[in-house]
Amino acid sequence: MPNTILIGAQWGDEGKGKIIDVLTEESDIVVRTQGGNNAGHTVFIGKEKYVLHLVPSGILRRGKLCVIGNGVVVDPVSLMGEIEGLRQRRVKVEGNLVLSETAHLVLPYHRELDAQRELLKGKHKIGTTKRGIGPAYGDKAARTGLRIVDLINPPRFEAMLRQKIRENNEVLKAFGAKPLSFAKVHAEYRAAGDYLKAFVANTVILLHEATQRKARILFEGAQGTFLDLDHGTYPFVTSSNTTAGGACTGSGVSPNRMDRVVGVMKAYTTRVGEGPLPTESADIADMLHAMGREFGATTGRARRCGWFDAVATREAARVNGIDELAVTNIDGLDTLETIKVCVAYRDGSAQYDYVPNDIEVLSRCKPVYLEFPGWRTSTHQVRRWAQLPLKARQYLKAIAELTEARLSIASVGPDRAQTIFL
Ligand code: IMP
Ligand code: MG
Repeated sequence: MPNTILIGAQWGDEGKGKIIDVLTEESDIVVRTQGGNNAGHTVFIGKEKYVLHLVPSGILRRGKLCVIGNGVVVDPVSLMGEIEGLRQRRVKVEGNLVLSETAHLVLPYHRELDAQRELLKGKHKIGTTKRGIGPAYGDKAARTGLRIVDLINPPRFEAMLRQKIRENNEVLKAFGAKPLSFAKVHAEYRAAGDYLKAFVANTVILLHEATQRKARILFEGAQGTFLDLDHGTYPFVTSSNTTAGGACTGSGVSPNRMDRVVGVMKAYTTRVGEGPLPTESADIADMLHAMGREFGATTGRARRCGWFDAVATREAARVNGIDELAVTNIDGLDTLETIKVCVAYRDGSAQYDYVPNDIEVLSRCKPVYLEFPGWRTSTHQVRRWAQLPLKARQYLKAIAELTEARLSIASVGPDRAQTIFL
């Protein structure tokens, strides 16, 4: 398939990093189109573990061009650190990474504002990653943001940054927070600008030319459907469009150039941060955490865990137009006697087969479960569909059917080899 959009069908951390890595093999170009260094994509290559935040994971494969598109918000200092980290591990970045001129910048005042707003919200906080993502996209929408083109134009950057720091210091003072030093921020970000300059290009033109010569492009989504600014559990969302449409606006590649949408989902559900999670269950959380699983790649936070939520994934299939499903972390359920799947929500006498938009209603919703017998055997060594225990196959078929999409990949562990193609 030439152009593939890969998205998360739940609340992020579906194991996209690994599936992206697998699909990269059949791609020439990998593009990030939204989010920022709030994302954490974990990829294992042999025994080596890589966690990527801004750089597409395609960078770990030889000869793949990686693009950070216009829809991404970039903290230049953080990106520089990530590139340096890759170089130290002998990953070739030069010539393989391109950064959009029109990507917006995340600056220290965005991080400060993110933290201060969360503090002010107290128990109503969103539980952000505190990477400044919301305030950076806020500036973008308010048309007061700085972009990569500005960063690499020293006099313009200086003037714009001076103005922004002056303005934001007033806001920070009102919060009772420490103001930022223009000189310090300027020096640090100018240095990062010099470092990144060689990677900067007009990525819309680059991708347009690539589609004309029929290069195969993989659009790697970050976060997940229910963290989408429009379609997620607002306000407990991130500030970008994590759904399939975001791949178009965030790259400048038009919808009619897209050939397929792959949705990635876990065989159960997790969420980091606050907000409703109808199938949340202490039992499954304790079990997964005791196995050493489900700790955040970016913040190290223990993820909240729950049973598979087919009401949510069915909605994700619709919003994203999912053609194919990749189900990950199947091995996480290996020891269970009974596995529950949510097929509807109930709130008093009302029953829902879709996710209600009113966050108060959603927070009250109780899941209606179907139960499946567990397979109670390790799936780690399984490499083919037919080798999977029958009960595991039945479970996977059921969750794909309930999601109303076709199962195409099943993953039984973090390694590339632990991938089953249907
Ligand atoms: P922000 O994106 O840092 O503003 O955080 C907003 C919400 O999205 C919080 O609940 C975060 O925990 C969540 N979030 C942001 N990035 C990710 C991710 O990559 N995986 C999972 N959750 C995320
Ligand atoms: Mg993650």
